[in-house]
Amino acid sequence: MQTQVAIIGAGPAGLLLSHLLHLNGIESVVLESRSRAEIEATIRAGVLEQGTMDILNQSGVGARMQREGVVHHGIELAFGGRRHRIDLTELTGRSITVYAQHEVIKDLVAARLAVDGKILFEVSDVSLHDLQGKTPSVRYTQLGEPAVLQADFVIGCDGFHGVSRPAIPENPRQDFQRSYPFGWFGILVEAPPSSDELIYAQHQRGFVLVSTRSPTVQRLYFQCDPKDDVDNWSDDRIWSELNTRLACSDGWALKEGRIFQKNIIGMRSFVSTPMQYGRLFLAGDAAHIVPPTGAKGLNLAVSDVRLLASGFEQFYRDGRQDLLAGYTEAALKRVWRAEHFSWWMTSMLHNFADASPFQQQLQRAELDYVVASRAAATALAENYVGMQF
Ligand code: FAD
Ligand code: PHB
Repeated sequence: MQTQVAIIGAGPAGLLLSHLLHLNGIESVVLESRSRAEIEATIRAGVLEQGTMDILNQSGVGARMQREGVVHHGIELAFGGRRHRIDLTELTGRSITVYAQHEVIKDLVAARLAVDGKILFEVSDVSLHDLQGKTPSVRYTQLGEPAVLQADFVIGCDGFHGVSRPAIPENPRQDFQRSYPFGWFGILVEAPPSSDELIYAQHQRGFVLVSTRSPTVQRLYFQCDPKDDVDNWSDDRIWSELNTRLACSDGWALKEGRIFQKNIIGMRSFVSTPMQYGRLFLAGDAAHIVPPTGAKGLNLAVSDVRLLASGFEQFYRDGRQDLLAGYTEAALKRVWRAEHFSWWMTSMLHNFADASPFQQQLQRAELDYVVASRAAATALAENYVGMQF
């Protein structure tokens, strides 16, 4: 089989790239190791920046997001028994939308299949070849049969554990990383929203995030030991821990309900450079990971893909390669800003077991400053809604 652009991975990065290429008349094939049902059911991100919404709307896949997503104009920071609002829209003129990542996936898969876009699900043994030549290829197995996909370019959108990044040799590859000594315990709950806005809460027993999915389903996370087991946490124990950490002097309380999903997520910061090697380009989690505290991962995947889509448009329309050649530099500028922001939010809001009393006081001073100073609140807000550069 032959195509112009071979895309590994049908996450938000791979699917959106395939969709944007199609709008520019460029053909692609997406190879995905999981089934359509699995990718459409995996619960992950929830916060879309304005820029992410804009590209989904402009490219014609935003209709359901506009109907079912909820626009938020602020977030709350809770600490010391009090909640403090950061007014994102007043401080930046912009807002965010809460719309689940797997809903974005459903919209993109539907858009690709509606125009006979090629997504090959449940492929295995994917390997990348001849990346430095003009005719790279991808080998894979589908339904027990080995196959080869030949392309002008290969794009690794296969997430952190994929095969694309390791296809770049150790020289010139350079990886930067930091792991955190905690994870997030995530739950999905059948209940009405407890709050109109997301609450990021710092407490000596650990961080809590109160997020939402719909009028009837809520998403909550609390800081936990990354090696803990969900079976150690009965529903009663979870509600008791959440209520302790979220206790507030104004009488506000969580609305409890049936917990129907529990999972534990590890936290790391990671960047790999370069994001291009010959005719291979990496996008999204394949090249970089942020801890979820800043809500940046999905949005970074989208901004990488925007750059690639413009680069391929220029290449196929004008035969020029300058945008593609500048991809690593342009993408990493946004990536490192988001890395810093996500690390900063994580450091400010989590409980570090080895923090000295001095460091604990500094953490509190920083929170006090962010909610007391318009300049500091604006710095948080402009990063949260997405920096424009
Ligand atoms: P992925 O979504 O990981 O997609 C990669 C795809 O490639 C997968 O479908 C995988 O099956 C496939 N694949 C892997 N290996 C192969 C292979 N060898 N061959 C073929 N296919 C392969 N981000 C935000 O912006 N906002 C948030 O609020 C937010 N919250 C989050 C909450 C949680 C709990 C988690 C875990 C993440 C969160 N993120 C958030 C991060 C966000 O989910 C990721 O950054 C995003 O999924 C990255 O998209 P991607 O397309 O690069 O990779
Ligand atoms: C989510 O709703 O899943 C979510 C929201 C904000 C974050 C991370 C995750 O920072």
